[in-house]
Amino acid sequence: MDFLVLPTALTSGTVTVPGDKSISHRALILGAIAEGRTEIEGLLAGEDCLATLSALRALGVSIDNSDDTKVLIDGVGLGGLTIPRKALDLGNSGTGMRLLAGLLCGQQFDSTLTGDESLSSRPMHRIIEPLSMMGASIDSNDGKPPLVIHGGRALTGVHYAPPVASAQVKSAILLAGLYAKGETVVIERAVTRDHTERMLRSMGAGVSGDSGHIRLQATERLEATSIKVPADLSSAAFVILATLIAKDAEVVISNVGVNPTRTGVIEILREMGGGISIENPQLVGEEPVADIRVRSSVLHGIAVDASLVSLAIDEFPVLFIAAANAVGSTQFSGIGELRVKESDRISAMANGLQQMGIKVDVSEDGAEIYYGEPSGAIIDSYGDHRVAMSFAVAATIADSVVRVRNIDAVDTSFPGFSEVLGSLGVSISIEDPDQS
Ligand code: S3P
Repeated sequence: MDFLVLPTALTSGTVTVPGDKSISHRALILGAIAEGRTEIEGLLAGEDCLATLSALRALGVSIDNSDDTKVLIDGVGLGGLTIPRKALDLGNSGTGMRLLAGLLCGQQFDSTLTGDESLSSRPMHRIIEPLSMMGASIDSNDGKPPLVIHGGRALTGVHYAPPVASAQVKSAILLAGLYAKGETVVIERAVTRDHTERMLRSMGAGVSGDSGHIRLQATERLEATSIKVPADLSSAAFVILATLIAKDAEVVISNVGVNPTRTGVIEILREMGGGISIENPQLVGEEPVADIRVRSSVLHGIAVDASLVSLAIDEFPVLFIAAANAVGSTQFSGIGELRVKESDRISAMANGLQQMGIKVDVSEDGAEIYYGEPSGAIIDSYGDHRVAMSFAVAATIADSVVRVRNIDAVDTSFPGFSEVLGSLGVSISIEDPDQS
């Protein structure tokens, strides 16, 4: 499918966006191995989380998601998962695969994790190394999926400093740590999202995190709890940018997760001149949540502080669009990790922006993007949800129609994306290229 977007003046309004993808994955996984019934409200019913949900069902967990976003899980306890009858297919989801790999290392049975073409080309060595140090046995296709995990190994806690800043790696180690003898410590070189630690704590696990050392004590059991999933700031970011670059609009996005390990995008856009305010902040369970008010603003180019990269890791595609609308030029550095996301996001974004007539210089782990007026174009999303949504946002201020190709993956993280933009007056439709 393709997006077809006509240049349109975005109008003011209040919108909601779907639940947080990272928190939804963790709620499903930890709910599955807790004791008792976990109630999740606001789960992201996107394809990534549904793949994780199906994998957990195949591992013997009873999950009722007949109500889509309100999910009930009858947890089986740390030792209650059962052998799956076939390979567990995680689709497009790196989070699903890496977190489940950590969990499955601690089981008494073998399991296999597979994924789609994009996931099958993503690096898994980053989890295989620390999990192997803990005593796990994992076969892979030269460091890539499929992963075959041999169960029945006795795991021991490690002290490990991942060479890349990654919440997925940290979480895989902590999940394996639940099954390990002794203490597990992850030493972070840069702060990454801490939803796993917060949720583990809310379920009674001994987790502490001082100055980059995250420590998990041996844990006997997790206690089921109720979890309210806030709206995903990574999805809200598309609405935030569409509003900032519009002529004269003010939009409120309600109930968004504003965990400080995620808010790099707000910090960066504010530094570029973006009028963004946080209203009605509150703590919902373990997670900070607020309404975000955005006003159209004139953006200016900056050198983005590399220390913010891990706090905005999923927002660089949309930040590239911000940069193209910022007077002067914007420099990004230390963003090499973008090359191993759902697509090579540095190349995918640079190619699309160049198609729109924007000047971009790229290096292995950075980019400089110059101000320009985007022209109509046909853009390839490379099957990457965030690339597709970023160009749909850019298209709202292009000089003529923009077609974004291959947008099916948008449903992995933001089902209803085009409806949300549509509710703010954007002329966006989904078209089957074979029928047009
Ligand atoms: C995620 C961590 C990040 C992020 C991904 C979700 C998570 O990946 O890009 O979308 O839920 O832990 P890395 O850990 O690879 O940086």
